[in-house]
Order: sequence, then C-alpha cells, then structure tokens
Amino acid sequence: MLNLVPSAIDPEISPETFETIGQILKNQCGFRLDGYKDKCVKRRIGIRVRATQSPSPEAYGELLTRNSSELDHLLRVLTIHVSHFFRNPSTFEKLSSLILPRLLGEVSRERGVRLASVGCAGGEEPYSLALILKDRFPEALEHGSVSISASDVDGKTLEVARQALYHPDRLAEVPPELMLRWFKREGERYRLCPEIRALVEFSRADLNDCLSLEPCDLIMCRNVLIYFERTRQEAILNGFADALSSGGTLVLGKSESLFGSARRRFRTVCAVERIYQLI
Ligand SMILES: C[S@@+](CC[C@H](N)C(=O)[O-])C[C@H]1O[C@@H](n2cnc3c(N)ncnc32)[C@H](O)[C@@H]1O
Repeated sequence: MLNLVPSAIDPEISPETFETIGQILKNQCGFRLDGYKDKCVKRRIGIRVRATQSPSPEAYGELLTRNSSELDHLLRVLTIHVSHFFRNPSTFEKLSSLILPRLLGEVSRERGVRLASVGCAGGEEPYSLALILKDRFPEALEHGSVSISASDVDGKTLEVARQALYHPDRLAEVPPELMLRWFKREGERYRLCPEIRALVEFSRADLNDCLSLEPCDLIMCRNVLIYFERTRQEAILNGFADALSSGGTLVLGKSESLFGSARRRFRTVCAVERIYQLI
C-alpha cells in the first residue's frame, strides 16, 4: 500500500480560498493569478500552507492578511526566479554569431537597436546580453545605438538585479575572461561592474499586460511562458509579435514553443534554440 507522508500531501484548496488568496495578491502586491496554470499555483500555495504550519488553506489565507513577510514569501514562491548567466550557452552563441550581427547591421543608427529581456529574474539574462555586446560588439555600444531593457513582475527580484551581486552558482557559465574582467569578488559573492550594469534598464512590468510592451527588435522571454495556461501563452506570444519591429527576433526557453495564431506570424530561425523571426 502507498505510504504517504502527511506533510507531503497537498492540502485541498477550495475555489473560495483560492479566490481570496488571489485577491490578496492582487490588492497588496499588484500580482494577478489569472492566466497561470491553476494546478501549479495551488501546489505552490500548498507548500506555504505546510511550511507555515497553518492548520488549513483558509487559516493560511487569514495569515496572509496580517503578515506581509509571508505575502512576500508566497510571491517569491509563485514567481520562481531560477536563472543563471549564459543559461543555455548555445543560445547565446547563436545570438552572438547570427542574430546580433544582423540586427546591429540592419537597424539605422538614429533609431538604435532595442533588446528586451522579459521575465528577467535577477538580471542574469539581460546582463549576459550586455556582456556579449561589450565583448564582441563594442563599437555598437560606443555609438550608443543599442539599448537593453529588462522587466519582471516581481519588484524584489528587480532590486536583486540592480544590486548585481551574485553567488558563484549563478556564474558557472560565464567565460573565465569575462569573469576576470567584469566581476569583483565581495566575500563569497561577485559583483558585476558598474560599466556593464549601466547598459541595462530595469522596470517592473506584468506580462499579462501585453500592451505595456515597448516596441523592440529582439525579445528574450525564456522559461516564463511555461507557467501560463495555453490561451494566455498564445495571447502573450501575439503581444510579442505586435511589439516586435518588422523582422524582429523572439527567443523562447528550451521547453517552450510557438503555436496557434502566433505560430503563423513567425518563421523559425533555429528550432533547437527556439529562435523565431517575425514575418
Ligand atoms: C524561471 S525565471 C526565468 C528567468 C530567465 N528568463 C531565464 O530563463 O533564466 C521566471 C521569471 O518570470 C517572472 N514572471 C513570472 N510571471 C510573470 C509575469 N506575469 N510578468 C513578468 N514576469 C513574470 C518571474 O518573476 C521570474 O523572475
């Protein structure tokens, strides 16, 4: 017979309690649960119900109304910030050898090239782009013709990004010469130097508001869509297509792909790296 450990069983969250917790997150953190996969969200709430030793999901909902640090904690658990520099190095290699030379060559100097990292977590992804530009396309930066914007729904993770102080496990894929040149050790961690940090502009934005996307030439949105329901994913993908300039590039995570009406708006540049170009 299956021997379940009581603490590992997900508590049953009623639709009413789910709604209440959703309202608290929306009113107090500006974070909306709609569009996310219910099952995934409920599992994560369940983790916090157990961790706080709340006797029931309802009691946990009560706790959220009077304990702002638990509310922060829940938000962090829901918005998973796993990331590291040069995550999937082959994707950055493709960007550097194929996509960036084309974008930097095509777009006029007056307008500049606009790169965006959406769901940027602690800044690892946009800073990796910045390091590539500095290392391989310094003349484009000198002319001030490239900008990198980075956004996330979680204000706390954006603070981490702005501080740019990282544990070595986030830096394992940084090429040694870039590590030596652009990071300074501070105790057990490493801080990215101001010259690279200045290349990225961070702001808070919710992917659910596709209309808030600024026009751009390249969007990296990796390992974010997986948390959303299919219909919401499709709406977000169409939002990317609307925001991209003609011939603009979209990069998704390795376990994400284009589908539905959004599929028809892009051609595949590299299926393995999930790189697509707006038609
Ligand atoms: C797993 S991380 C991915 C980080 C990075 N893109 C990468 O692939 O390494 C997912 C990020 O998406 C953000 N996120 C989740 N929901 C979001 C939303 N509705 N709008 C914007 N960002 C969101 C989370 O806060 C988190 O930082």
